[in-house]
Amino acid sequence: MTGAAIPDPAIPDPTAPDPSVLAERGVPAHVGVIMDGNGRWAKQRGLPRTEGHTKGEEALFDAVEGALEVGLRWLTVYAFSTENWRRPQPEVRFIMWFNRDLLTRRADELHERGVRVRFIGRKVAPIPRSLLRIMDRTEQLTAQNTRMTLQIAFNYGGRAELVDAARALAADVAAGRVDPDDVDEAALGARLYGPDAPDVDLMVRTSGERRLSNFLLWEAAYAELVFDPVLWPDFRRTHLFAAIDEFQRRTRRFGAV
Ligand code: IPE
Ligand code: IPE
Ligand code: MG
Repeated sequence: MTGAAIPDPAIPDPTAPDPSVLAERGVPAHVGVIMDGNGRWAKQRGLPRTEGHTKGEEALFDAVEGALEVGLRWLTVYAFSTENWRRPQPEVRFIMWFNRDLLTRRADELHERGVRVRFIGRKVAPIPRSLLRIMDRTEQLTAQNTRMTLQIAFNYGGRAELVDAARALAADVAAGRVDPDDVDEAALGARLYGPDAPDVDLMVRTSGERRLSNFLLWEAAYAELVFDPVLWPDFRRTHLFAAIDEFQRRTRRFGAV
């Protein structure tokens, strides 16, 4: 018996544009990715939610390979939000240990690929000390790499980032280092977690949810939004290519006509 084949989202889409074609047309300066849907992916299979996080590793590293193939210079992925602490303790704990192990396994590979890894977010407790240490070591190991910057947003919140930037700016004003009249977009932007990162041009969210969930609120002010129904563990570089293709078809006006 033959029925219509159900497309397996994990299988690369043969109609996805070729990375060299995308590169020629000009890729976004900075892509943000909200890696969502791990729990639902697991639930669909009768597995514990944590299995979805485990499976998400392959998706992330395929996306990184794809980003390198098309020549992206900046990629920022949302790994853990300031709101995700509200999840059940065992899941939070799993995510912490899982990320520690993932970095231990993968730091050298990212380094060999020429990727500079940077963590954005509040790098403090309750993130476990052993994870903070390996985050630090990974940043140091890859600090001189220039091919692509991979920002991993961990214990990240867009509002927290703006609060931290405002606080730093206020301290500079109070100390007389900055004149209040000089407080402008550049002054605030310079105090964000990744002050040298260009604005986000393209924001991709998986799992069909259509919201930002407190991700890169300042940086994505003019980003093109692409929502893909694929659940994160099934995401592959071809999904990234399709999102970039979509981006390249959009007309951006930045308020002008
Ligand atoms: C994204 O997947 C991973 C994190 C937020 C850590 P979810 O865990 O949010 O998966 P869903 O949205 O419940 O399916
Ligand atoms: C956003 O996903 C955070 C990450 C992907 C790390 P959530 O699953 O936490 O977002 P909401 O709760 O659906 O808005
Ligand atoms: Mg979610």
